[in-house]
Amino acid sequence: MTSQRPIVKAVVPVAGLGTRFLPATKATPKEMLPVVDKPAIQYVVEEAQAAGIIDLLFVTGRNKDALENHFDRAPNLEHALLDKGATALHDELMRIAELAHIHYVRQGNPLGLGHAVSMAKSHVGDSPFVVMLGDDLIDSRTPILPAMIEAYEKHGGSILALMEVPESEIHLYGCAAVEPTDNPDVVRVTGLIEKPHISEAPSNLAVIGRYLLQPEIFDVLAEQEPGRGGEIQLTDALAKLAEAPELAGGVHAVIFRGRRYDTGDKLSYLKSVFQVALDREDVGPDLRAWITSYLAGNV
Ligand code: UTP
Repeated sequence: MTSQRPIVKAVVPVAGLGTRFLPATKATPKEMLPVVDKPAIQYVVEEAQAAGIIDLLFVTGRNKDALENHFDRAPNLEHALLDKGATALHDELMRIAELAHIHYVRQGNPLGLGHAVSMAKSHVGDSPFVVMLGDDLIDSRTPILPAMIEAYEKHGGSILALMEVPESEIHLYGCAAVEPTDNPDVVRVTGLIEKPHISEAPSNLAVIGRYLLQPEIFDVLAEQEPGRGGEIQLTDALAKLAEAPELAGGVHAVIFRGRRYDTGDKLSYLKSVFQVALDREDVGPDLRAWITSYLAGNV
């Protein structure tokens, strides 16, 4: 069934304070931290492009210059690379500047993810759209957006991405109450709770940073009171849509079983760097040999 309106825009919130990664994030957005030689945000933009979405709205805060510059042309650098004969690097910089049409809106005060998404209202208009958290890195070999778009074409409404996590970690995430559908990888979401205590968690299914949303979310967010941590939570607004399917077509979710990293978390960030580096032909073999030697106490 393809009667649903197509998804052409993504909103990418990058205005968080990144307190878990201070002092590195004092003057640099955490989304610019490198995963090998690309900033984390570039993987997100490439993921959107691979799913056919090239109209992106970045919701930025302080320090947005680095993000803007990264996705813009850099004539001086481009000329210098050509003069040195570094054409491959030159072409790579040109490719980055042409990855997507990136727009920017400022979230003056980081009042929470729900508040950041509400900043996108006038850019998004009256169409469904995707939200991609700029610090959530999804392995390109196990993409989630195509499965979310497929679930949307079948069920309509809003589509989340859920990942099984150990019970001891569910308090770090939004958590979903779900019912099965005829597809083992797609569930109906009946309730959501942000960062629950283990005793209140309805499942071990955690919300991860990809959302396919209906424009009705903006009306819900406009009325949303601050929740966990005093922040306007996207999860709380989505809980309302899950509990009242007549409002905007209900909420379903795709179960993500691939690799995903939270690059705003120190340990998860380090894992992402190692995984990406070990998989790369240029640095992977030497890094693997070095790690093996290091762990054996030989370095
Ligand atoms: P996080 O909770 O991971 O970001 O938000 P944070 O607030 O920067 O994290 P810490 O705890 O201080 O380290 C998830 C995503 O939502 C964005 C963040 O940039 C991140 O991509 N966000 C969060 C906003 O854009 N605005 C906000 O007010 C809050």
